[in-house]
Amino acid sequence: MSEVTARQVGRFYDEVADTTALLLGDAIHLGYWPDGAEHLTFEQAQDGLTRLIGAGLDLGPGDRLLDVGCGTGQPAALLARENGCGVVGITLSERQRATASARAEPGQEYLLADLMEMSFPESSFDAACMIESLLHMPDKLGALREVARLLRPGGRLAIADLFEYEAGSRSPFAMLPPDVGELVRQAGFEGVEVTDVTARTARSTEMFLHRLTERRSSVAEVCPPGLLEMIELAARWLADAMGTQIGYLVLTARRGDPSLG
Ligand SMILES: C[S@@+](CC[C@H](N)C(=O)[O-])C[C@H]1O[C@@H](n2cnc3c(N)ncnc32)[C@H](O)[C@@H]1O
Repeated sequence: MSEVTARQVGRFYDEVADTTALLLGDAIHLGYWPDGAEHLTFEQAQDGLTRLIGAGLDLGPGDRLLDVGCGTGQPAALLARENGCGVVGITLSERQRATASARAEPGQEYLLADLMEMSFPESSFDAACMIESLLHMPDKLGALREVARLLRPGGRLAIADLFEYEAGSRSPFAMLPPDVGELVRQAGFEGVEVTDVTARTARSTEMFLHRLTERRSSVAEVCPPGLLEMIELAARWLADAMGTQIGYLVLTARRGDPSLG
């Protein structure tokens, strides 16, 4: 697959903003259903995943969180509200930035920015999350190194994303590789913990396809021609591949202290 540029990713999210709102709601990520909580709605399960990330970051008042790939800002706003932390969210999509900024509360800032071109000085943040954003980044090691630079030593990282069980899954996305934990270590993190939560998240893909069928005529009104077919193909591929070729992981780590060598 040829590399998708940051500009293309931003344009894609601008174009599908109304479509994702109809199909996914405010958060643009899979849901997480804990054991025995299969009754949760898609949106409740999406918030559950966001809270899992928040727990992995051990957030508290006074912390400054960087949300890398913040989407509409809903996940970061939830984490800020429930943990009392400040937030800077970055996205490549102007529409997402505008949505997030329009409802930002004090202490929350949402910027149109590419992670790979950040002007923040090093050690600017206490914590960083990447919820389904790393899969858009062709240079994953470079991206993780930049997040490490932006975090203070000891600062926490949490990632939720799709990953390949074996490299080269012919996926339409740039999934995380099977050894993503090693990549995170190479980028300067320690205490890396990777949890395969595929069984707790996989039902999202069937629910998404169901919604796509149910809401098709409304979606067709707002989705640019061609994109709906592309989304449907990708969603079908994902529903088939999930649990066999593709899994979903939550990863937590903390930035090592470079001064300790
Ligand atoms: C699938 S959406 C997830 C949005 C949000 N994390 C959520 O869970 O609702 C992917 C997001 O990653 C962002 N993104 C991808 N590559 C990026 C980059 N290099 N710099 C900043 N944001 C990026 C996109 O703009 C988009 O907001």
